[in-house]
Order: sequence, then structure tokens, then C-alpha cells
Amino acid sequence: MDTLLARAARGERTERPPVWLMRQAGRHIPEYRDIREEYSFLEAIKTPEVATEITLLPWKYYQPDGLVMFSDILTVLEPLGFSYHIESGVGPVVENPVNGPEDTDRTFDDVREELEYVGALLRRLDDSVGDETALIGFAGGPFTLASYAVAGEPSRTHLPLRKLRARHPEAFRDLLSSFAEVVREYLQFQVDNGADVLQLFDTYAGTLTTEDYREFLLPLHQEILADLDVPTIVFARKMNGRLNLLEKSGANVVGLDWTVEMDAARDQLGETPVQGNLDPSYLYSDPAFVRDQTRNIIEAAGPEGHILNLGHGVHKDTPVESVEAFVETAKDWEW
Ligand code: CP3
Repeated sequence: MDTLLARAARGERTERPPVWLMRQAGRHIPEYRDIREEYSFLEAIKTPEVATEITLLPWKYYQPDGLVMFSDILTVLEPLGFSYHIESGVGPVVENPVNGPEDTDRTFDDVREELEYVGALLRRLDDSVGDETALIGFAGGPFTLASYAVAGEPSRTHLPLRKLRARHPEAFRDLLSSFAEVVREYLQFQVDNGADVLQLFDTYAGTLTTEDYREFLLPLHQEILADLDVPTIVFARKMNGRLNLLEKSGANVVGLDWTVEMDAARDQLGETPVQGNLDPSYLYSDPAFVRDQTRNIIEAAGPEGHILNLGHGVHKDTPVESVEAFVETAKDWEW
């Protein structure tokens, strides 16, 4: 039996919208902060028992329709020979970033072996997650991963990677292709280990020009998403007005950031299912405001092919009551 989330992802009419939140298992949950006193972030994601416990925390509070495995998009850096860690106050840091245009055509190790801890996590979750809840796997997209691999640290403008595009377009193409190959294998591995739905996070892809996106990135999204036999969601920010580029990826569902008006998305995408898109900052408001704004989104999206989510991840210190109000609005809905 398909889960509610999978049915909406396939464009079916559902009695209410399924709901989950990007980054739902992270720092806004008190128990997560306790676990992090004991384990570093990388220890937590590499220890399947701990990652399982964290993945299930949102269930205790909200019973969302999807549980997203607790992991990170950067795990695939290691099979490509990059080492990284998360530096408090900075974010992810790659210790041996791409060393010039000669260093972009990378070979990679056996993904299944190197990321076995993710396989083990999914198998455990598959045993604990009920039949009605979707187990959501994910991977980063080539542009977003390459941004870290080239800059070596978070970059707001992604200028180091965009400079590579400008000066050495073939090296840029090789680097994105190397990531695409790893990601493709990684997503199939997740399906083999029990993921019911997959999301591709190419969060920063919208910083490319439309022409570059079409030429360099779109064919890779298409390759990555072809032949996966579970429903897929593609997400990138700053795609307002050119959502058709996401649609052409072949994903079942187009993820919307909060700058996209739901009515406009439906106009642009027709019957293609959509996910989103409450502004995550609204969760700092009171629950009544959250309910009103969430209802507006559900109304505008209509009963077919809509997965309720935020327009990006939950911020830290977000009040649990607001997340509750958000999830309950979907769960109480009746079309
Ligand atoms: O959605 C989920 O709950 C699943 C887990 C998940 C995390 N990161 C957990 C995490 C997912 C899907 C991601 C995706 C991710 N990671 C992206 C895609 C776009 C996005 O932001 O949604 C990117 C660019 C990354 C890279 C990354 N990893 C960043 C920017 C950070 C935050 C760094 C910081 O200090 O704020 C991380 C670490 C990370 N990944 C944390 C979590 C909960 C924080 C770890 C901690 O400090 O406890």
C-alpha cells in the first residue's frame, strides 16, 4: 500500500495534504540537543542506532507523514576523496577542497561500502516506521555539493564554483558530473535499503544563470532521477519564475521555496505535484498565525498532488508549538 505522501507525490487527490518538514529532526528539538552533548554531528550520523533515534524524534512530537533519515548531503564527499567536518559557528568545512581545474575529474570508491552506515540506518528505520509513514531518503545535488568541494566552506555567493564555470567550463562540467555519478548510485542504494520517497536537494542551484542551469545542470538532474522506482522530489531555492527547469528534471514533485506564490506555481506547473512552502520564519510567530498562513497554502494548492512542507529547513530555536500548529493544520484538514 502506498503511503499518503507517496500518493500525493504521484499527483493523486488526497483527503488531506501529507506533511513533513525539511530539517525536522534537528536542533529545534530538545532531545536532539541532549544527544549532541554526547556525540558530534558526524558521530551521530555515522552511528546507525543514534541516527535512528534522532530520525524518530519528530514522531514523538508531531507524527508527520514522512520521516526523513537523519544524515547530511555531504556524506558523498568521502567516497570522492574529500574529508570534511562541521565547525561550530562556521558550518561544514572541507579539509582538502578541489585543488584547481586539474582536480575535477574524480574517481570514486564503492559508495555502498563507504556509506554502509546509511544503508544500516535505513534498514533500521524501515523496521521502526509504520506502514502509513513514508521513509524519506535524500542526496545533495551536484551544484550544491560542488560548492562545498570547491570553496571548502559555506559560501553565500558560491563565487569560487561560479568562477570555475567562468574560467574552466570543462572542469566545471567534469566536477558536476563526478558528483552526479556518485549521487545516482547513492540514491539507488537508498531505495535498495528501504527508502520510500527521495528528495534531491540542489538547494543552491538557483544561483546559476538560467542558460547555465539548462546546459550544465539539468541533464545531470535528469540522469540522477531517471529509473528510480520510488517517487522523487527536487528542491532548489531561487527558482521562482523558472520552475519549469525543476519540472524537467523528471522528479515527480517540484519543491517550492517560500518566495513562490502557490497560485503562480500551479499556473506554471499545471498538474505536476508540488511541495511547500511556508516561510520557516513564520514559525517564530504565534500558532494562530501559523495556522492561518498554512491554511492559505493548502487552499491555494488544492486537493491534488500537494505535500505540505516549509519553503526550506526548520531554523534552530523554532518553538515546538508552532511546528505542532503547522502539522496539525494538515492533519485536521478535510477536502
Ligand atoms: O531534513 C532533515 O531533517 C534531514 C537531515 C538534513 C541535515 N542536513 C541535517 C543537518 C538534511 C536533509 C540536510 C541537508 C543539507 N545539509 C543541505 C541541503 C540544503 C538545506 O540546507 O536544506 C546542505 C547545504 C547541508 C550542509 C550542511 N550540513 C549545513 C549547511 C549544515 C549546518 C551547519 C551549521 O552549523 O548550521 C550542516 C550540518 C547539519 N546537517 C545539521 C543538521 C541537523 C546541524 C548539525 C548540528 O550542529 O547539530
